Amino acid sequence: MKNSKENTDKDEKGQTFLLSWASCGYYWRKRPRLLYFIFCSFILAPYFITSFILYRLYSFGVKDEGFPDNMDVKVPVLSSVSNGTICCDRSHFRTDICVMKGDVRTHSASSSIFLYTSKHDNGFINNVSNVVQHEKIKPYTRKWEAGTMATIDELDLVSKRENPGLDHRCDVHHDVPVVVFSTGGYTGNVYHEFNDGILPLYITSQHLNKKVVFVILEYHHWWMMKYGDILPHLSEHPVINFTGDNRTHCFPEAIVGLKIHDELTVESSLISGNKSIADFRNLLDRAYYPRIRALMVRNKEKKEHQPRKPKLVILSRNGSRAITNENLLVEAAKRIGFQVRVLRPKQSTELAKIYVALNSSDAMVGVHGAALTHFLFMRPGTVFIQIIALGTDWAAETYYGHPARKLGLRYIGYKILPKESSLYGSYDKDDPVLTNPESVSKKGWEFTKKIYLQGQTIKLDIRRFQKQLVHVYDYSKTKMNKYIHHQSQ
Ligand SMILES: *[C@@H]1O[C@H](CO)[C@@H](O)[C@H](O)[C@H]1NC(C)=O
Ligand SMILES: *[C@@H]1O[C@H](CO)[C@@H](O)[C@H](O)[C@H]1NC(C)=O
Ligand SMILES: *[C@@H]1O[C@H](CO)[C@@H](O)[C@H](O)[C@H]1NC(C)=O
Ligand SMILES: *[C@@H]1O[C@H](CO)[C@@H](O)[C@H](O)[C@H]1NC(C)=O
Ligand SMILES: *[C@@H]1O[C@H](CO)[C@@H](O)[C@H](O)[C@H]1NC(C)=O
Ligand SMILES: *[C@@H]1O[C@H](CO)[C@@H](O)[C@H](O)[C@H]1NC(C)=O
Ligand SMILES: *[C@@H]1O[C@H](CO)[C@@H](O)[C@H](O)[C@H]1NC(C)=O
Repeated sequence: MKNSKENTDKDEKGQTFLLSWASCGYYWRKRPRLLYFIFCSFILAPYFITSFILYRLYSFGVKDEGFPDNMDVKVPVLSSVSNGTICCDRSHFRTDICVMKGDVRTHSASSSIFLYTSKHDNGFINNVSNVVQHEKIKPYTRKWEAGTMATIDELDLVSKRENPGLDHRCDVHHDVPVVVFSTGGYTGNVYHEFNDGILPLYITSQHLNKKVVFVILEYHHWWMMKYGDILPHLSEHPVINFTGDNRTHCFPEAIVGLKIHDELTVESSLISGNKSIADFRNLLDRAYYPRIRALMVRNKEKKEHQPRKPKLVILSRNGSRAITNENLLVEAAKRIGFQVRVLRPKQSTELAKIYVALNSSDAMVGVHGAALTHFLFMRPGTVFIQIIALGTDWAAETYYGHPARKLGLRYIGYKILPKESSLYGSYDKDDPVLTNPESVSKKGWEFTKKIYLQGQTIKLDIRRFQKQLVHVYDYSKTKMNKYIHHQSQ
């Protein structure tokens, strides 16, 4: 209940606040069905605070830790913020986002972004500091995870009356909006990098058509290296390291924080231009194309004259959730007729190299885990088999199964039998860990994590698994023949 605490703190300091519905628009959720307003240039009267808290308890209180419910947010907000105002939407359970319009200036020394309003504006102000409105925000998309959010830099967004002569000048004038976000939080996990960072950045900025400047908090060199191919396709301007750049940058508009829709997806109904996750993937294709051409020239691209075999990529893990008889899986797949490639992406593996392997594949298989985020690199119409370890059904479907289908992949969830899990050797045959993983997961996230995510390897029943592979082979072969037939007409 951080919000209400902050509000109380402010009240205690006896500051003056505006109560205003402003021009932020509103939206509604499907579950629970509720229409309410976004509180713009502040603030909640006491009885609003009470009902707001009740609402938050009702809607966000009953959920598994780590696995928030999918809120069905319908209409995007913040579309019509008027000049000279800061408008914050704090209603989404994943993210806060504030928009400032007018004379926006950065001040990194105080971790602030100022909005200067003209002398003629109406409204209550704090006479001493000339402050009209003050908001705090952490521009990161995992708002419900207190521990993660504690590592994210907080920004002060302050709108002030202009004070000629006293206020700092602009060192750099920009005539395009700025989007401010953090690349801190989870690092070294490709799921989080895409889900919490790159995809929200796409969702928040694509409509600006690259006419946007990115200002990054917790700016990491490795992040720039890893995602450097993608950024020029979202912004035609150099990015700014907020803490490392003490100049005053001036903008006509700031969007602070990122919008996010659902797990690894783009919800067409919530984004301008009817964009989808397939459009995001097309952007990746354009982003990696030059690098892949260069790699191919270096490898002297072999032309294949024989009819090609369907390609299968195995995303391999070692340690937890590894397939301990992976060599047998490879053999079985080859016997069926696949050309097999085993990939074990590391944090440092260049994404273009993973992209080129998956973009040319007919199928991808892997055990539930962050590396499966690379399904985004598969072409729509190709096959993705997720091996669902014991106790990971819900996560497998939510994080990868459902999003993969939305991208247009042929998704197969291969749910292992207890016998295929290493847990089979460690628990009695009638232990709930084997017979009823759901009941174990209900006890809490730490159980799922310790027993099923960290404590399990997989020994595939190859005879059982290869039935799936044969179907996939036939499907891929048919698709290839159709393509050849189509080409020769
Ligand atoms: C918005 O406000 C700024 C400064 O207050 C002013 O320079 C700018 O022209 C205004 N823009 C519009 C579209 O009214
Ligand atoms: C704020 O300043 C104005 C003049 O700029 C003055 O008329 C008003 O009384 C002041 N308000 C307070 C609360 O000090
Ligand atoms: C960004 O700025 C901070 C503060 O000056 C600095 O420590 C950091 O190395 C910079 N990051 C990069 C990638 O240049
Ligand atoms: C930024 O910092 C550098 C050295 O740390 C200093 O020389 C420079 O004047 C500062 N620039 C501004 C605009 O404050
Ligand atoms: C949005 O795009 C989908 C295909 O991607 C299309 O079927 C649909 O008609 C489009 N909707 C609008 C409103 O343009
Ligand atoms: C991905 O594959 C498609 C279809 O084969 C091809 O047209 C496209 O150029 C490939 N993308 C890259 C970046 O190589
Ligand atoms: C993964 O494999 C590498 C080398 O193949 C090995 O050095 C490393 O210890 C393995 N990691 C785990 C967690 O088993």
